Amino acid sequence: MTKLSTTFATLAVLLPVVLGQAAEWGQCGGIGWSGATTCVSGTVCTVLNPYYSQCLPGSASSTPPTTTTGGSTPTSTAPASTATGLNKLAQAAGKKYFGSATDNPELTDTAYVAILSETSEFGQITPGNSMKWDATEPSRGTFTFTNGDVVASLAEGNGQLLRGHNCVWYNQLPSWVSGGTFTAADLTDVITTHCGTVVGHYKGHIYSWDVVNEPFNDDGTWRTDVFYNTLGTSYVQIALEAARAADPNAKLYINDYNIESTGAKSNAMLALAKSLLAAGAPLDGIGLQCHFIVGQVPTSLQTVMQQFTALGLEVAITELDIRMTLPATDALLAQQETDYENVVKACMNVEGCVGITVWDWTDKYSWVPGTFSGQGAACPWDENFNIKPAYNGIAAALA
Ligand code: XIL
Repeated sequence: MTKLSTTFATLAVLLPVVLGQAAEWGQCGGIGWSGATTCVSGTVCTVLNPYYSQCLPGSASSTPPTTTTGGSTPTSTAPASTATGLNKLAQAAGKKYFGSATDNPELTDTAYVAILSETSEFGQITPGNSMKWDATEPSRGTFTFTNGDVVASLAEGNGQLLRGHNCVWYNQLPSWVSGGTFTAADLTDVITTHCGTVVGHYKGHIYSWDVVNEPFNDDGTWRTDVFYNTLGTSYVQIALEAARAADPNAKLYINDYNIESTGAKSNAMLALAKSLLAAGAPLDGIGLQCHFIVGQVPTSLQTVMQQFTALGLEVAITELDIRMTLPATDALLAQQETDYENVVKACMNVEGCVGITVWDWTDKYSWVPGTFSGQGAACPWDENFNIKPAYNGIAAALA
């Protein structure tokens, strides 16, 4: 295939030549790799996928590297599943996908795209920005889908599911909406047109849509944005109905953060979900973003997910990352491995948790350093695309 051979050639050019032995967690093989193929003592070179072999902790044995899951201890423990890669493991465990967010600027990075396109690792893609309101309807009635279509085509070409993100959110909203003065009828028309047109454009291509994003403040009160101020809580059902009419087969979600533990905010979301269902609104799922901090993963995550699934809804982990104060240390990375494992285990323990999306898979393109000053290293792969201990935590939970 032209696309693939181009990718391999580019990979070979981009990859640095490393002499001697690769360090712990360093790359030690893979397509296009011309660096070290042996590992420092105490680690063993393990094939993770065709692109990457990595020096994983363990006693260097005389046995050659075997193709195993990245998450199992390579030397002694037999993997519980023969599946390799996070999405394969997730699907073998009965989940619909393990996926990742991505964003258009990153798609010029061919080595990045090659890994994102590996369906063994990622069975679903979410556009990080390009389906948001400011990107799709920058002025009233003028729709642009160029960047969203790039992400949609990539997913479709790879045979990956696509999550739509998002229709109605207080943020990344063009000023004609956020600063507009609307009657209730006019804003209803604005929402219906926006959600109807955007969801309609991707009809048949989307597994699930985050129709409403982040409706609540952290204390469980409603965000006083233009939608709430003009329409009260009714804007949620208006948006859901427009989305359902535009694509009857897409699962329709409300998505938020800090609803991953029991408390005022998750109670508010529960009450909203109950009232929408009672009103016959087309709500199918709740997205738990899961932007966490190392060492601070909520212990009631599973309980909260079960509260939602008890209503007959599905749930998904939609934006997982677990950040730390930089610099990353071995201790922080080890804690992060445990944290990722616990989050994924919570989803594994809840039948109605359909999948897990990381908010990009590599530290190279994570939104964290640009948003949370001094923090980063939040993803399961480092900025050089080597898997981190976090990857092993995820794989262990999925296995
Ligand atoms: C983030 C993107 O990743 C950034 O590139 C952008 O600058 C800001 O938004 N919750 C969400 C996502 O629902 O849409 C946000 O994405 C991260 C927090």
